[in-house]
Amino acid sequence: MGLVARSKRRGGNFPHPFLIGGEMRFIQVGIGSMGRRWLQWLTGNSDAEVVALVDVDPTALASARAAGNYREEICFSSLRDALKHVDADALVCITPPVHHKQCVTQAMKAGLNVITEKPMADSLPDCISILRTSHDTERTCVVSQNYRYKPETQTLAHLVRSGQIGDIGQVKIDYYLGWDCEGRFTQEIEHPLLVDMSIHHFDLIRFVTGLNVVSVRGESWNPPWSNYKGDCSSALVFELENGAHVVYNASWGAKGQFCGWDGNWQIEGSKGSILYEKGQITIYEAPKLYRVTKTETVCIKKPEKTGQEYVLNNFIHSLKHGLRPQTDVFDNIHSIAMVFAAIKAVKTGKRTPVLDRRLQQAIADYKPRLAKEEA
Ligand SMILES: NC(=O)c1ccc[n+]([C@@H]2O[C@H](COP(=O)([O-])OP(=O)(O)OC[C@H]3O[C@@H](n4cnc5c(N)ncnc54)[C@H](O)[C@@H]3O)[C@@H](O)[C@H]2O)c1
Repeated sequence: MGLVARSKRRGGNFPHPFLIGGEMRFIQVGIGSMGRRWLQWLTGNSDAEVVALVDVDPTALASARAAGNYREEICFSSLRDALKHVDADALVCITPPVHHKQCVTQAMKAGLNVITEKPMADSLPDCISILRTSHDTERTCVVSQNYRYKPETQTLAHLVRSGQIGDIGQVKIDYYLGWDCEGRFTQEIEHPLLVDMSIHHFDLIRFVTGLNVVSVRGESWNPPWSNYKGDCSSALVFELENGAHVVYNASWGAKGQFCGWDGNWQIEGSKGSILYEKGQITIYEAPKLYRVTKTETVCIKKPEKTGQEYVLNNFIHSLKHGLRPQTDVFDNIHSIAMVFAAIKAVKTGKRTPVLDRRLQQAIADYKPRLAKEEA
């Protein structure tokens, strides 16, 4: 894991060593609570090598160094210094969302492909800037939507998309946790639940149904006992592109009983419904109006890699084979747009289109370099 001379390779199709059998060399930016886990996933992946660690907090760097036995020469307090001193193929960005745009656009302009933790960024202009940079530099930027890669959500998506319950007509999602934000960046931001958590559920709505979302309306609020500065509860209604409705009822300020991180789902279609609760998936066949003809508990298969480990593998595999990773920014813009539309809807009290004119234009102007999607 030594320092290597940095060659000039801005843009263009330079031959990465990893493409001829080497490891993909990563810079990791941000080594806080999630960053420490990413470092384990990177070091545990035989196709990846960590060539630099970046954090503005010297204590975070020191504890990562001590835990992983990393040399001081590969630790930097700024991405600019890391890019100057090491040769890398890719970057993972695990900073708070407000810094994502600066970090990932700087990396792509330096010729690196990128994985960023969700959410893509914390504002629509920043997301559009990331989209434009990925298009202009022809670098891949993936958003880590790890909730797609759980055995339960994979099973849900497979069942719904196979057509077993027919055409989706309505969906109900209940998410309620008492999640203490003390000392976290989520304590300070305006819409902690929508920006930092609901992005997972919104992305899952698209992934599970295979449908994009057209509009949203609803409300958000902060329960009196909340230690969040921004609203940590919301109730939203989304309309999908096939006309179906999704009722989304969520809180990080719940008291008493909590659900799992994915929330509880009831997905109803023309031929039946699927219930996902407490890690269990049940399918109800109801081809004729309300009468259930069969109820079955579904067997959930555990794939070899899940969560961020899957995201990382998929990123490396896709780049090696010239494919488009599943959750690149050109896909993810349709999920993150739901967050900003929801914020606008709760602020204005109006039904809000998910893609406003500015976003439609950006999606038309900026396209992925790789057309063929990873399966
Ligand atoms: N996918 C998931 O399930 C999941 C779970 C938790 C967090 N996350 C995401 O991971 C990201 C980080 O969250 P966290 O909980 O680790 O936050 P954190 O506050 O614990 O850690 C962030 C780290 O980034 C560093 N940092 C801040 N600005 C920086 C900059 N400009 N350059 C370099 N380093 C900088 C901080 O010093 C800190 O060490 C967020 O985007 C969050 O939404 C994802």
